Amino acid sequence: MTIQFSCPTCLKELDEGLKCASCKVSYSFKEGMYKFVEEKDTHTWDTYWKRIPVYDTVLDFLRKIMNLQLRRYLKKFLPVSGVALEPGGGSAYVSALLAEQGFSSYALDYASAPLMLAQKQLQSRAVLVQGDMFHMPFSEGVFDLTFNNSTLEHLSNPLDALNEMKRVTRKGGYVFVGVPFTYGPLCVYKLKKSSFKGAWDGTTYDRAGLKKLFSDAGLEIVGSRTFFFSCFVGVMGRKVD
Ligand SMILES: C[S@@+](CC[C@H](N)C(=O)[O-])C[C@H]1O[C@@H](n2cnc3c(N)ncnc32)[C@H](O)[C@@H]1O
Ligand SMILES: [Zn+2]
Repeated sequence: MTIQFSCPTCLKELDEGLKCASCKVSYSFKEGMYKFVEEKDTHTWDTYWKRIPVYDTVLDFLRKIMNLQLRRYLKKFLPVSGVALEPGGGSAYVSALLAEQGFSSYALDYASAPLMLAQKQLQSRAVLVQGDMFHMPFSEGVFDLTFNNSTLEHLSNPLDALNEMKRVTRKGGYVFVGVPFTYGPLCVYKLKKSSFKGAWDGTTYDRAGLKKLFSDAGLEIVGSRTFFFSCFVGVMGRKVD
């Protein structure tokens, strides 16, 4: 199933040429991905995704284990023919895994570097979208599941991101967020002043804090779990209105 793109500024559906009739802005499809943001805004995260031999191989291996666990959990909620979106997905392992199994899978990231990795390294069959997770190029209520791991802790306004994830999810659909767990090994985040690659620090959450974020977004909480050796805590919410 394919989703029609909408203008991230005015939310009008785009025509086949990815042009907004209202804003008179044209978006593009280049190098295997739909592009809704300017490359110049993505520098920090592009740097984060620059490959360093051995270090990134190890990290990718760990990421894969974590995302296999995550996919297993998400699939409990995803209908067989569902449409899933992973905003802030990075190299989008989970989207790639879901797409491999025939799900309609969309992965969105602000930076092109991880999306290129998704394409080349993972041979991902997910639809790749370079866009801003605060203003996504989708109409309201089009996804069965919208999920993210390990991004909201980096944002100064995580509730706005969660609200946007809720907006694009259909009524009755699911929203999942995973973040570093305060009482797990990643609590060392709090002790660090700066970090390798400049992007590792972030807020940690306990279960109650993450659940509160979901309640503030008006999502019904249907589950929560820690995963990847308690490094992360996740909450699954449902859009009821
Ligand atoms: C720490 S990485 C996590 C990636 C992936 N979820 C994972 O677990 O491997 C955070 C990602 O969020 C993306 N990101 C940050 N701000 C964003 C925004 N406003 N819109 C879309 N993506 C964003 C970054 O480009 C980066 O790839
Ligand atoms: Zn527009």
